[in-house]
Amino acid sequence: MKNIYLVGFMGTGKSTVAKALQKFLPIERVDLDEAIERVETITINEIFAKKGEDYFRNAESTLLGIISKQNNQIVSCGGGVVLRQENIDIMKENGTIVLLSASAKTVWNRVANDTYRPLLKGKNGPKDIEEMINNREEMYKKAADITVCVDDVTPDQVASDIVKQLALTGALN
Ligand code: S3P
Repeated sequence: MKNIYLVGFMGTGKSTVAKALQKFLPIERVDLDEAIERVETITINEIFAKKGEDYFRNAESTLLGIISKQNNQIVSCGGGVVLRQENIDIMKENGTIVLLSASAKTVWNRVANDTYRPLLKGKNGPKDIEEMINNREEMYKKAADITVCVDDVTPDQVASDIVKQLALTGALN
């Protein structure tokens, strides 16, 4: 089976939904952010603070390239993976890109007390989140083969919806 790449803004539940998908599909799970932290041996916050965002984005692209050489995986990606067209190309080459979408309010409710995401430092409410989502919206839409809204639904419901849509597109064959 081809890979399933989960993309979407921070706080849309990509990692949790990836775990829920394993209840439905016999598939390996890989978390791109966790892979970056393992290879770099420091946290994402530290990578941004000590080496900068460009360094992080390069590490992200490199690891995505390596991970994408294998099949039969669900890959939960960091929210900014769609910012580089080369990443979208890598994902499209051997997989289906599933976009988790959420309202700014949902995202804010989930990330308001977060300290693990460097790009959310200084963000003060749903308005700030909405601005960030709007800036990225075009790239998310461009990348997505399938889109699932995660507002007011459980991770299991999202996973089940994804499986149904994947089946319809023939991606599970
Ligand atoms: C980022 C999202 C984060 C992480 C990094 C940058 C982004 O992942 O990759 O902090 O640019 O949206 P999550 O989406 O899992 O929070």
